[in-house]
Amino acid sequence: MPTADLPVDQLTIEQAEQELARLAAEIAEHDRRYHGEDAPTITDAEYDALRRRNAEIEQAFPDLVRPDSPTGSVGAPPAEGFAKVRHAVPMLSLAKAYTDQDVLDFIERGRRFFQRDEGLEIEFTAEPKIDGLSASLRYENGVFVQGATRGDGTVGEDITANLKTIADIPHRLEGAGWPETIEIRGEVYMTYAEFQALKERSAAAGGQDYVNPRNTAAGSLRQKDPAVTASRNLKFFAYAWGYTTEDPAPTQYDSVQKLADWGFAISPLMVRAKSAHELIEHYKRIEEQRSSLGYDIDGVVYKVDRLDLQRRWGFVTGEPRWAIAHKFPAEQATTVVREIDIQVGRTGTLAPVARLDPVSVGGVTVVNVTLHNEDYIAGKDSTGQPIRDGKDIRIGDTVTIQRAGDVIPQIVDVVLDKRPADAVPYEFPHKCPICGSPATREVNEKTGKEDSRRRCTGELICPAQAVERLRHFVSRGALDIEGLGAENIELFFNAGLIETAADIFTLKDRRADVQRVLAEKREEQARQRELATGKTRKNVRSVEDRNFEGLDKLFAAIDSRREPELDRFIFALGIHYVGGTTAAVLARTFGTIEELMRVGREAAAAEDPMTVFPSIDGIGGTVVGALTDFFGNERNDDVIDALLKQVRPKPYVVNISADSQVAGKTVVFTGSLQKMSRGEAKAMAERLGAKVAGSVSSNTDLVVAGPGAGSKLKQATELGVEVIDEDAWFDLVGEA
Ligand code: IVH
Repeated sequence: MPTADLPVDQLTIEQAEQELARLAAEIAEHDRRYHGEDAPTITDAEYDALRRRNAEIEQAFPDLVRPDSPTGSVGAPPAEGFAKVRHAVPMLSLAKAYTDQDVLDFIERGRRFFQRDEGLEIEFTAEPKIDGLSASLRYENGVFVQGATRGDGTVGEDITANLKTIADIPHRLEGAGWPETIEIRGEVYMTYAEFQALKERSAAAGGQDYVNPRNTAAGSLRQKDPAVTASRNLKFFAYAWGYTTEDPAPTQYDSVQKLADWGFAISPLMVRAKSAHELIEHYKRIEEQRSSLGYDIDGVVYKVDRLDLQRRWGFVTGEPRWAIAHKFPAEQATTVVREIDIQVGRTGTLAPVARLDPVSVGGVTVVNVTLHNEDYIAGKDSTGQPIRDGKDIRIGDTVTIQRAGDVIPQIVDVVLDKRPADAVPYEFPHKCPICGSPATREVNEKTGKEDSRRRCTGELICPAQAVERLRHFVSRGALDIEGLGAENIELFFNAGLIETAADIFTLKDRRADVQRVLAEKREEQARQRELATGKTRKNVRSVEDRNFEGLDKLFAAIDSRREPELDRFIFALGIHYVGGTTAAVLARTFGTIEELMRVGREAAAAEDPMTVFPSIDGIGGTVVGALTDFFGNERNDDVIDALLKQVRPKPYVVNISADSQVAGKTVVFTGSLQKMSRGEAKAMAERLGAKVAGSVSSNTDLVVAGPGAGSKLKQATELGVEVIDEDAWFDLVGEA
């Protein structure tokens, strides 16, 4: 069982240490995605499970707590650009309850903590947990002086100017009786209506798409220009306070009413409650109203009402003991799968997407959902275990969609009762929908398991993969064409100037077009710069002159690569699993691109490709499979032929067979060779016109013996056959 799945009480010290390191890194990464980029990749529940496991291990192994332990720190460090603000009192997070039992446990912990206080009835407040961003607003003598994000809980960003644009935040406190200094805490959020309006405005202007209200509110708060923030009409609920020179009132409830008196918006759904029963009743009431509130909430927060009791019960790292967030289960909805589309990624992976009847889940309209891969559609995970109880997904199926927190929606169940009688299991295409080439699943040699992804084999001809391949073709380890970076490749591709690698070498013939495309790009860049800086351009003429010179340089650089080394050329083709090292082995083994192509095609036609490929060290079934797919795909032929009209890869020089010293001779390799593998040696000898035999006889002309050679060496000496070592072999064939 992987360490990550072991129960805490079964961990050894080493495993615990390893787990804490893993969890610290993972949690930090998810924090960065959530707070730093507003783009979480796991659900809140999964995230909480990571933190819980970390806390449990720390409790069991207190000596192992890391200096960078995630316990007690929440959120990403402040982004660059805004001044940093240290919160006078840290901004805490909340412990979470997922079940009624968790709520009963919370109340029981309180009862035990205060058991000496005879006759004490602990009262609580209950209010919605708003799904937005928390902010801290500092008021001195009733004047709003500074506002900050939560940041990592200790240090946030100064976003005073942006917060001042929010109508719910008073610049001056109203009424009277406010403390000399108080940090008001609350949640900035965006209503669905505002979110929808922004999306529509943006779509009309051809602007970006927005994922959900929370992320959009976060982005709106981080604007450099407060006018942009103002245009987003954000809202704010006040629900707590940090540093204060004086409690607003003796209880939570009354204090929050005071905040309302001073001009803040407070949640109309806050109540006082005396028992777990009452809390859970209110939770249910709020849950019923959830979809009609007009903004996202993700649970209900319970807090001990009396502030003196809050202080006595106190804190654990980063969380008050006297409060808990009772989370709603992830929102679900059912809808119908109308179509399954296959998208082809830039690396050729076929990615299935379900097109759904639009359905609203947690305030977001879902129309597409990823189906990951064909096993997932069939109801299996990557290890072959059933998911969704093994139910497959068919076109026409009614499915349950879940969106947990901000995370990407997924299909969690199939409603079999509603499956149409004529629904058939989905047949995953074995052909690329873009180029029609076969799409195959590779087999991992070591595990013998199929990759879960099916991939297009139309490598050179598939438009979906074209840009990525062209970029690879000119990259460093490949043809390495100076001045033709990834950016220009994309530019020329989009302008229709290059489709395949061969076109790069004919760019020169289309000089005027290249010039036009580059000029247009320069224009566009200049426009952008002007917009950003407000400055106008000078020296337009001379910049252009310089660029024409640059064009000659670019064409010269392209021409200088018309005779690339064979290994670079093979690498540049971008065959799956053929990296630089493998390309070098292939170059050495086959000597010319034609020979590699010949063997590749022969292997593709053979029943077992492995028998056609000489056994080459470091080249196993996976690479052979990729080579046969690549060279066996007839549709790649034209592309390679066109390319070879432009480019002549240098043959990998060993003495070519005619004048080779070993041509026509019978050679036996024995012992353990140090500089080449047996397969490589065989291929090399054959390329030089020799015959390679497995045993020594009177017909043998030459024995090449490495260390540890035994019976064959003995036989050779007895028969008087010439014996040489590996170095002498390389001398003979003219290669070191
Ligand atoms: S009280 C001392 N009340 O939830 C406790 N937090 O998980 C401070 N939140 O950072 C928080 N609605 O961003 C509290 N009604 C509410 C809340 C609320 C949303 C957020 C807040 C906090 C996070 C804790």
